[in-house]
Formats: sequence, structure tokens, C-alpha cells
Amino acid sequence: MNGFVYDIPTKVYFGANQLEGNLGSELRKYGVRVLLVYGGGSIKKIGLYDKVVDEIKKAGMELYELSGIEPNPRIESVRKGAELCKEKEIDVVLAVGGGSTIDASKFIAAGACVDHDPWDFFVKGAPINDALPLMSILTLSATGSEMDNGGVISNMSTNEKLAMSAPAMLPKVSFLDPTNTYTVSRYQTACGSADILSHIFEEYFDMNQDMYMLDTVMEGLMKTVIKYTPIALENPEDYEARANLMWASSWAINGFIKGSSSVGWSCHMMEHELSAFYDITHGLGLAILTPRWMEYCLDETTVSKYVQFGVNVFGIDASLPPMEIAKKAIDELSHFLFDTLGLSRTLTEIKIDDEHFEEMGRKACFGDKIYGFKTLAPQDVVEIYKMCR
Ligand code: NZQ
Ligand code: ZN
Repeated sequence: MNGFVYDIPTKVYFGANQLEGNLGSELRKYGVRVLLVYGGGSIKKIGLYDKVVDEIKKAGMELYELSGIEPNPRIESVRKGAELCKEKEIDVVLAVGGGSTIDASKFIAAGACVDHDPWDFFVKGAPINDALPLMSILTLSATGSEMDNGGVISNMSTNEKLAMSAPAMLPKVSFLDPTNTYTVSRYQTACGSADILSHIFEEYFDMNQDMYMLDTVMEGLMKTVIKYTPIALENPEDYEARANLMWASSWAINGFIKGSSSVGWSCHMMEHELSAFYDITHGLGLAILTPRWMEYCLDETTVSKYVQFGVNVFGIDASLPPMEIAKKAIDELSHFLFDTLGLSRTLTEIKIDDEHFEEMGRKACFGDKIYGFKTLAPQDVVEIYKMCR
């Protein structure tokens, strides 16, 4: 087990009705001009917009708005937001929404502090040294963007969806009110849970990290998602279910479970290509890819990790032969994703054929390989895409 740095300074207000009084006072710490960023309007439908505006007004702040952030947020929106920040001399950015809104806000906050195009952060290696202070109010449990310092932005004109992270973009404060997720659709709830699970798998499936404590925490997080997603699907206003999913989403990716793992986030690299070419929901792409990736990586050198997963998470009989446990574990996961959550099982079902597999394979590896649980070359990625048809 190698050493690592743990640094998660985001302040979290968790629970119902935490905005009142706290949002205004937290925002005021950073100035008076706030840019409120949100998506396609769900925050208005759920009454959150009015509450937020009210708090901002009560705090005596000047409010500016940028709406229309797309799922799989576009660089054009980031550019627009960064310009707005400069023009209005914004002091603090407030993201209200899901991962797309929070991600876009991160690069808006960073883009406001530089003179170049924000896309240069992604393709020209321009450093992110500074960003306006960012706060978030989360409305969808999935990405963990509320408590991590990364984000993913798409440029559909070049079929690129690229991730970048920097400590400066970490939200200073995040409000996590599970009741704000009551209106999330069945489909987005299912996709969100597939995403949370994938964030855990990306760290858990590592043959080098050896820390019982972290593995046990990860298994607990997985069991939480597996237990509570069906309950949230059945009763979208079940507070316990929504609360458990929300806190699991943050802890799946806020750096805590990472420890010293040095995995390549293979499924995410492969999924970002699907979203970049076909604009699909991130969690759906992950759900389709993950069991196939697991099948592809299973061999005598990796089987012990699958055994641990199958026995500890799905309660599979530990006395069975290791390969049998591993295969049962993949079957259990597939059953959860495709039958219990009701997500599409194949790329064909979502009308993705093999036309771009070669190009996506190359791009997923950034001209090299994905050095993960099992190192994947472009041809391996193509094979995994083919298994998803
Ligand atoms: O746009 P609005 O109207 O808000 O509607 C959204 C959107 O249509 C809707 N929604 C959100 N909260 C709702 C709601 N509908 C009803 N009630 C609510 N309370 O849900 C739809 C999807 O929202 P989006 O923000 O796109 O979803 P998600 O949170 O899953 O974010 C996905 C994006 O995050 C990236 C993904 O790649 C994708 O671009 N990721 C970010 C990560 C990070 N920052 O660390 C890591 C992840 O692995 C991921 O890559
Ligand atoms: Zn993800």
C-alpha cells in the first residue's frame, strides 16, 4: 500500500431545509455578485429556483443567471458562462442541478480567470490554477461532482468528451437535500445509480491496492446502492432511499475510497467515447459496458477480486470454485442493472452500431493504452464494444 494525500475541504449541508439562512450567508462570504447556473428547467418545476432566488435576495446579493446547461454539457455553454462572469464581474458561481450543471460551472469558474478559450484546458494543456469560488445545490445523485474537483465537457463538433480536474474547481460548499431528488425520473435514477456503482468499481477492481478498510467501505457503498435504488424506483419520495443514494454518490468519488489506487478508470474512458459520438446518458453507457468489461478482464490473475466482490456484495457461496463465483457475480450485476433498474442491455438496443468502434477505441486510449485493472489497448476496447452489441 503506497502513501496518498487525502484532501476534501468541501463543506456539506446535508438534509432537508438546509438552504434557509445558510445559502445566503455562505455566498456572502465571497462577495455580492452571484451567477446562478442551471439546466433545462427542472429546478423551476420543483420549486427550488424560487427558494434559491429568495435566499440570494434576502442576502442582499446581485443575481445573474445562466440557464440551459445541457446533459453532457457543451463547451459553448462554458464559454458563455465564463464571458458572463468577466462582463458582470461575478464573485461567486452557484450551480443548481445535476452533474452536468455542476461540471459546466466548474469550468465557467475556471474560464472566468483566464484570457484564453476554456477548451484550451482540455486540448492545449492550459493549466487551471485559479477559479472563482463555486457552490452547488445537488438535484440528482450520480456523478459526485458536488464533492470532487473534476468535470467532463463535450465538444460535439469534434466528437470529444474530455475530463479535467484541478483543486481550484472543488466546490467550497455543497447543499445535499435528498428531497430535491424526489422528482428525478426512473430512468435518471437508474442511470445515476449505475454511475455511482461504476465510480466504486473503477477503484475497487485493482490488483495493487491492498487495504481491507477501503475495500470494506467500497463494498458497503455498493450494497447501499443495490439496496436503495429499487426502493427509490418504487417510491421516489422515500427519504431514506434518496438520502442513502445521495451520500453514496458523493463518497464514491470524493477521493476517500481512492487511497493509493492507480487505476485507469477504464469503463469511464470507454463510456465517454459513446457519449461523445452518440450523446447518450453517461450512466446508461456505463451500465452496458461494465459487465462486459468485467467479463473481458476475468482470468486466473484477476479472479480473486471477483470472488471477493461476489461473496461480500452479492452473498455468493464462498465454497464454490472461484471462476464460478466470478461468473455468478457478473450475472448478479447484470441482473441488477438490466432487470431491476430496467436499463437497456445492449448498444444495439440504443441504436449504436460498430461504425465508430475503431475510432472510439483509439480515442479512449488517447493514442496509448488504458492502464487499469487490466491494461487495455485500442483493440481490446473495440472487443469490449463488440461484446456490448
Ligand atoms: O437540465 P435539467 O432540467 O436540470 O434536467 C436534468 C437533465 O435532463 C434532469 N434532472 C436533474 N435533477 C432533476 C432532474 N429532473 C427532475 N428532477 C430533478 N431533481 O436530469 C437530466 C440529467 O441531468 P445531468 O446533470 O446531465 O445528469 P448527471 O448528474 O448524471 O450528470 C451527467 C454528467 O456528469 C458527467 C457525465 O459524464 C455527464 O456529462 N460526470 C461527471 C463527473 C464528475 N464531475 O466527477 C464524473 C462522472 O463520471 C461523469 O462523467
Ligand atoms: Zn461516472
